[in-house]
Amino acid sequence: MAVTTQELIRYKKEGRPIVALTAWDYLIARALDEAGVDLIMVGDSLAMVALGYSTTLPITLDEMIHHAKAVRRGVERALLVVDLPFMSYQESPKQALRSAGRIIKTTGATAVKLEGGYPDMVETVERLVQAGIAVMGHIGLTPQSVHQLGGFRKQGKTAQAAEQILRQAVALQEAGAFSIVLEHIPDDLALKVSQELTIPTVGIGAGPHCDGQVLVTADLLGMSTWRPSFAKAYTNLHETITQAVQSYAEEVKQHQFPKSTS
Ligand code: KIV
Repeated sequence: MAVTTQELIRYKKEGRPIVALTAWDYLIARALDEAGVDLIMVGDSLAMVALGYSTTLPITLDEMIHHAKAVRRGVERALLVVDLPFMSYQESPKQALRSAGRIIKTTGATAVKLEGGYPDMVETVERLVQAGIAVMGHIGLTPQSVHQLGGFRKQGKTAQAAEQILRQAVALQEAGAFSIVLEHIPDDLALKVSQELTIPTVGIGAGPHCDGQVLVTADLLGMSTWRPSFAKAYTNLHETITQAVQSYAEEVKQHQFPKSTS
């Protein structure tokens, strides 16, 4: 049975942590889904990990849709969320509705995710929810604002900044978001936000107290060229791939592969 937004809210009530990861193509999506991941995000981090950009800013809505369609074909159970990319929703609630509508109609995703909170994104989330679109929020470190923030830095470190993040979270919940990503904020702030909300928080670099955890899958697999300090690599696929390719190259050069069958 496919995971629903209501089920994720139930997981929070039951204290059952949500397992989330990102995906950018069919093969990765299929592996994550078969492994039992609850929530798969076609995050715009794919601009960096799959397309080689240094930030998430260049990726377009068309490119996100292209990747999301491939991911959709690999997913049976997990709830699928697709990021609204930079400048596909910031202009107005109307622009956001058009972009989110395209994602939902053409990719088969369950929900969209957007960055930002109170006051900027509240009206936008309300508009999308009124139209029947499931929306996930994303606050704390919002990578689409990397230049404004002065880098991929931890957010919410002062009392005032922490208060603002808590306010954003509450406002997004009231606007109808079904869940919120908390990125790179102090553990105690993530705990406070998670306790305050009835909808689940999904943390990345936000400590152990969130209702769920997400990692960029390329980081988990040891494939990315750069990994944030909070990310954990569970294997080194880059090395495994390089070694396999070197073995293949060696066998081809030595006339050992393929073996003659006649
Ligand atoms: O872009 C992304 O991959 C994300 C997740 C890490 C939350 O926003």
